[in-house]
Amino acid sequence: MYAVAPAPTNPLAGRSLLSVEELAAGELAWLVRLARYLKAAPVHEHRALLRGRTLALLFEKPSLRTRVSFEVAMQHLGGQTLFAAGGEFLIGTRESPEDAAQVLSRYVDAIVVRTHAHEPLIQFANAASVPVINGLSAYAHPCQALADVLTIEERFGALGGLTIAYLGDGRNNVAYSLAQACVMLGARVHVGAPNSHRPSEATLAALNALGEPAGGSARAFADPVRAVRGADVIYTDVWTSMGEERYRERNDAMLRPYAVTPELVGYAQPHAIFMHCLPAHRGEEVSPGVIDGAQSAVFDQAENRLHAQKALLVALLTDAKGMPQ
Ligand code: CP
Ligand code: NVA
Repeated sequence: MYAVAPAPTNPLAGRSLLSVEELAAGELAWLVRLARYLKAAPVHEHRALLRGRTLALLFEKPSLRTRVSFEVAMQHLGGQTLFAAGGEFLIGTRESPEDAAQVLSRYVDAIVVRTHAHEPLIQFANAASVPVINGLSAYAHPCQALADVLTIEERFGALGGLTIAYLGDGRNNVAYSLAQACVMLGARVHVGAPNSHRPSEATLAALNALGEPAGGSARAFADPVRAVRGADVIYTDVWTSMGEERYRERNDAMLRPYAVTPELVGYAQPHAIFMHCLPAHRGEEVSPGVIDGAQSAVFDQAENRLHAQKALLVALLTDAKGMPQ
């Protein structure tokens, strides 16, 4: 008689991750626990986990953190990567996203895609037979949000009851994924933005519904001081995202009052931390005195991209046996 292997209990095994709301709150919390465990473990202790596995990185936009942290994560876990830049995978004219996904699924074990519009990424992931990870689209940046909630949890123990103030372009990928992850873990999200850049009422309603079970909520404020008052975390991102360069002048003018200055930080809690996904533009969305000051957590946050993505790879590509539950 052969012993029957127990069914894998890892609910994320074999799945893709295109946006945060695809995760149950418990799955998100588990990814953060896994990331903390892998961060604390000696670097090469888990080298066998992804031995012989290949991760493709297909990037249609520039990247430092996402690319390098995924490459290093795969090295630490015993696997390998291949990187391809250019515009021919999803939005190119050579072949459909579906054909590209099916072909690549025959070569590699998982695919990270950084692209523009979110819709072709969904088509691509639906046609792939291996996990597809969104390495940033115009709509979402879930890998960043994983690292963000890991960073906040490390600093404060838990997100429940914290106030996270996000200033600037409240409609971008980073803002949306951050808000989703934070409300799911019970935080209050305050978006400080002008009407042109604030989340729509429908988006706010969706965020409040997503956060409701954990007590999380989301509100938008036109007044940056009201958004920041009493906050535990102040977060900002560039005013103009990749692919949106035609709006740069308009954004600079409209978002200037939402720049994170030492004066604005003064309205937050004395223990508040400053976060930014990076790359940052000093003197635009953030003053040098804030991003380079004692309250800044931006380099811990950047480091945490590595740990969060190791957790994600282990969760999507293994049965996670021997990992904390
Ligand atoms: N924060 C982030 O995703 O950085 P990169 O664009 O350098 O990958
Ligand atoms: N919102 C930014 C994030 C970069 C990591 C962009 O999309 O360009």
